Amino acid sequence: MHLFLLLVLLLVVVVVVGFALVAVSKPQKSPSRPLAESNSKLSPNSGLTKNQSLKQRQQKLYKENNSPKSRVASFFAQLEQRNYCIAVLRCHTEQVVCFAFHPKNRCLVSCSSDRSVRIWWDPVDRQAKFSSVNLFTLAASEDGVKFPDSAVACCWKKDGQSILFALNYTRAIRAYDISENQKVVAGSLDVISPQKNTVKDIDVDPLLRYFLTYDDSSTFVVWNMRGTILTSVDTHQVKINQVAISADGRFVASAGFIADVYIWEVLFQKDNGEFLGLNKVMDLKGHHAGVTGVAFSRDNKLATVCKDRTIRVWNIEVRYKLGEDAKLLFSLDPWDTQVDLLHVTFSPKGDLLAVAGNDSVAFYSLDTRQVVTVLRQCTGRTTVDIKKFGFSGDGTLLATLGQGQQWISLWNIPAMPSLSSVHP
Ligand SMILES: *[C@@H]1O[C@H](CO)[C@@H](O)[C@H](O)[C@H]1NC(C)=O
Ligand SMILES: *[C@@H]1O[C@H](CO)[C@@H](O)[C@H](O)[C@H]1NC(C)=O
Ligand SMILES: *[C@@H]1O[C@H](CO)[C@@H](O)[C@H](O)[C@H]1NC(C)=O
Repeated sequence: MHLFLLLVLLLVVVVVVGFALVAVSKPQKSPSRPLAESNSKLSPNSGLTKNQSLKQRQQKLYKENNSPKSRVASFFAQLEQRNYCIAVLRCHTEQVVCFAFHPKNRCLVSCSSDRSVRIWWDPVDRQAKFSSVNLFTLAASEDGVKFPDSAVACCWKKDGQSILFALNYTRAIRAYDISENQKVVAGSLDVISPQKNTVKDIDVDPLLRYFLTYDDSSTFVVWNMRGTILTSVDTHQVKINQVAISADGRFVASAGFIADVYIWEVLFQKDNGEFLGLNKVMDLKGHHAGVTGVAFSRDNKLATVCKDRTIRVWNIEVRYKLGEDAKLLFSLDPWDTQVDLLHVTFSPKGDLLAVAGNDSVAFYSLDTRQVVTVLRQCTGRTTVDIKKFGFSGDGTLLATLGQGQQWISLWNIPAMPSLSSVHP
C-alpha cells in the first residue's frame, strides 16, 4: 500500500517537473501581443511549414485562452485559420446557448447559461474591446423577488431595433428595444409561454406580423407580435429539428425526425391583416432520413440537409394551388463522406450555401455547385459538433458556436467566386 502511494507520488513529481521544463523551454506568448507581431512568427524563415506553424499557434492560443488567468486577460483573443478565423468572442463563464446577428450589420447578441446577455456592437473591432459590448441580464421575478433568468433562444426583428428572447426558467418570451444611444430597454412584448418544454428556437416574420417558437416536440406555436397565440401546428414530424420562415414571411418550412419536409403558407386577410391560419401547401419528399436543417434563400429556394448525408436545394415557386409540389433543383455531395450534416444557411448575398457538419463548415458556390472552401476544426482544440452558425447581416462574417462551448468564433467569408484564390 505504502509502496503504491510512493509510486504515485513519484509519478506526480515526474509529470510536474516535465511540465515545468516544457514551460521554461517555451515561454508563453502574451495574449495581448499585437497581431502584427504574432504574424512575424509565420515568416518562412521560422523553419516551420505554414501548416505546422498555424496549427501550433492555434493550439497555443487555445491553451492560453483556456487558462483561468488569460480568460480575464485575453477577453478578446485572435486566431487565424488561413486568415479566416478573425476573432474569438470569449466572455461568458458558462456555455453560450444562443446567438443572433443583427439583420443588416455585424452586431451580434449572445446569451449564455451564466445568465448574461451580451450585445457586441462590432464583434471584430479589436480596439474597442469591452466598450464595444453591452451586457445585461434578463430579470425574472417570483413572489416579488427579482433574479436573473437566462435566455435559451433569441432573434432580431428585421428592422434591427429589437431582440426577442425566450427565457429558460420563467418560460417568458420578451422583447428588448435598442435605443438610439445603444441602450437596451424593455420592449412591448412580455408573455409567458404555455409550452412546458424549453424553447428550442424563436423566429420572427420579416414583415412583423407573427413570430413562432418551437421545442423538442412535434408542434410549433405561432404568435402575433403582442404575444397572443394565433395557432399551434402539429407537424406530425415526431420531433422538430428546425422551423424556418421565408424572406417574405409567406412560407414556413419545418424539418424533423421524419424524411419529409413540410411547407405551410401563412395566411392573413388582405384588407385588415387578420390572421386566417396556416395551410400546408407542400410536402418535400426525397430524403431518406431525418432532416436536420432547413433554410430559405431570399428568392424562395429551400435548402435541406439530412442524416442521409445529402444536401438538397428545392424550388418552391410552383403552382401549389394547383397541386404542384416543390421541385428538387439539385443535390450536393458532402465534402466528406463521413460527415454528419447538421445545419444549413444561405449567405445574405445569395451566392453561397453554407453547410455545417460535425465541427466543419463548407461553403458551396450556388453558381458552380462546387465546394469553395471548407473550414475545419471550427470548434478549436476540442472536437464537438457545431451547435449553431450564421452569417452576419452584411454577409461579411460567419459565426460558429460549438456544443457546450463558452465562446463564439468569427470567420471572414471567403472571397468569391474564384476557387484559386482560396487554394493558391
Ligand atoms: C497543408 O495544407 C494542405 C491544404 O490546406 C493539405 O493538403 C496538406 O496535407 C497540409 N500539410 C500538412 C503537413 O498538414
Ligand atoms: C434551464 O434551466 C434548467 C434548470 O431550471 C437548467 O438545468 C438548464 O441547464 C437550463 N438550460 C439552459 C440552456 O440554460
Ligand atoms: C462526425 O460525427 C459522427 C458522430 O459524432 C462520427 O461518427 C463521424 O465519424 C464524424 N465524422 C467526421 C468526418 O469526423
